[in-house]
Parts: sequence; structure tokens; C-alpha cells
Amino acid sequence: MKVLNNILEAVGHTPIVKLNKCVPNSPHNFYAKVEMFNPGSSVKDRVALKIIELAEKRGDLKPGGTIVEATSGNTGIGLALVAAVKGYKCVIAIPDKMSSEKINTLKAYGAEVIITPAGVEADDPRSHYSVAKEYSKKHGAFLANQFNNPDNIQAHYETTGPELWEQMDGKLDVFVGGAGTGGTLSGVSKYLKEKNPNIQIVCVDPVGSILYETFYHGKHFTPPGKYEVEGIGEDMLPENVQFNRIDHFVQIEDKETFLKCREILKTEGLFIGPSSAASLVGALKYAKTVTEPKNIVVLFPDSSSKYLSKVHNDEWMKSKGFI
Ligand SMILES: Cc1ncc(COP(=O)(O)O)c(C=O)c1O
Repeated sequence: MKVLNNILEAVGHTPIVKLNKCVPNSPHNFYAKVEMFNPGSSVKDRVALKIIELAEKRGDLKPGGTIVEATSGNTGIGLALVAAVKGYKCVIAIPDKMSSEKINTLKAYGAEVIITPAGVEADDPRSHYSVAKEYSKKHGAFLANQFNNPDNIQAHYETTGPELWEQMDGKLDVFVGGAGTGGTLSGVSKYLKEKNPNIQIVCVDPVGSILYETFYHGKHFTPPGKYEVEGIGEDMLPENVQFNRIDHFVQIEDKETFLKCREILKTEGLFIGPSSAASLVGALKYAKTVTEPKNIVVLFPDSSSKYLSKVHNDEWMKSKGFI
């Protein structure tokens, strides 16, 4: 790699790694696209950079301006990173269930952090969505709006999708990931299905999220519930979750996810976070329903460094009943 002009040029171009020991014997091959290699250690750097570049181009964000966003942390870190390099102020509204590592990282990048209560309805004025919107209105700040902004999908259509296709030499049958905003699955699906409409897109959803029921029944009957895995699952349906681009949904639970996260580190040396483990747990469940051998690629969105106080803390794991 040649010398980069700034760290933003290091966003994307992440490796795909074959999974050898954390998957059972089966006819299938499993691979992971490992997004912790981005400079802010998550897939969301791609989205933050694209949203800001396009906002600058359209004149929605002026030099020295302020960026505001509601996020479970990673988009905030991506935005704070881009803001630091480009000289913007960054304000992040984040629910209190998110790890202290993410909150401290945001502050370290120079972002202003507003902590909001987790588990309140999206349209409640206390929710992180409402707080970010209100801030934007009051201060004339640019709302990145990752849940509804099509530039989120575009980031994955232009980068993650083509990388997957090229790195796999076109030989992938199934792509598996979780949905928070839906940007990853919608953008990757759009690109891959243009290349080969037979590629199956699988969304992994935590029990407690409304997405699984809404996909299969058009609405949800069970009210949103609590779960510990961060970044995936929703209590409302974002515009960027495009059901027409998803073929299957698989539900996962916290305990199997957090145990799998520990196993992946110990067996593959991959320092990935709980939503990555969730996607692999879901991929293995989906794979059991398929007899023909398939190449299955799972997206690993971020790094375990953001969850040391949780998944790698025995006391926390015991307090949740996971060990
Ligand atoms: C850790 C983690 N995993 C997965 C996702 C889901 O990605 P997307 O918003 O593209 O659906 C996010 C989104 O914030 C995340 O932070």
C-alpha cells in the first residue's frame, strides 16, 4: 500500500477470511468480511465518509459546520473520525445501553456526546432519534440520518458489494448480516443481485427486535424487547431496511451470540464484536436448512475492543446468565 494523504483513504478494502475452526463440519464453506480493519474499527466508517462527502457536494454541510447523529456508537465513531480530519464539530446522541468503550471513544475523537435512555419508543422525545433531530433543528446542524438517508445504502453499493464480489471471484452463494439501519444488507444486496440474482441475502435478527415478525407478517405483534447485542435489530422499521432485497430472516439469542463471540476469538484469532458472532450464529442456523454446498459470506461489522467490559468480562457475563 502506498502512502495515504490522510486516514480517510484507509476506509474500506477490508480482508475476507475463511473460517476454519468455529464452524462445524458441513458441506458449506464459511467466510467472514472483517470490518474492524477500518480506521474507526467498524463497517460504519464507509457510511460516515460517503454521507459526509455527498453532503459537502450538495452544499448541505458547509466548512466548519456541525454534524449530528443518532447512533448505537459505530456510525458516531465514523462521523467523529471524518469530522476530526475535515474540521467539523460532531454531536452524537447515543442510548445508555451502549458500551462505555464506545462512549469514551466518541469523546476521545472530540465529539460531544448526549446520552439518552434505551428502550423508549422511537417517537418519544427522549429517544436518541428525537434528540438528534431536535438538535439539528435548533442549531441548524447537518443530520446524517443514517436510518433514512439513501447515501447509507449507496456506500455499501459502491464499496462493500463490489469488494465482496471481486474478493470472492464471483463465487459466493449466500451473504449474511444483521440490520441496524439496514444500509449494509440493502446496499450489498442491490449490488450482488445485479451481478447474480440467485445470491441469497440472509438477515440475522435478535429476539426482541421487531424486524423478523414484520418481515414475515407485515407487522409485529410482540412489542420491542430488550437484548444485549449492540448495533443490530430495531424497535421501528427504518426506510433503509428494504425487505424486497432480503430473502430470509433468522432469529438469534443473546446467550448463544456472546458465547460464540468468545469462541471465535479463541479458535480463529479474530477480535470481532458480538454482532459479528450473531451473524455467524444466524448463518449456521440458515446453513442447516440447505443441503447443496454453498459459499457463505458473513459480515463481521466491528471489533471486540469496543466490548471488553461486556463479553470479555466474566462478572458481566455471569450477571446476564451467559456463563
Ligand atoms: C456493531 C454493529 N453491527 C451491525 C450494524 C448494522 O449495520 P447496518 O446499520 O448497516 O444495518 C451496526 C450498525 O450500527 C453496528 O454498529
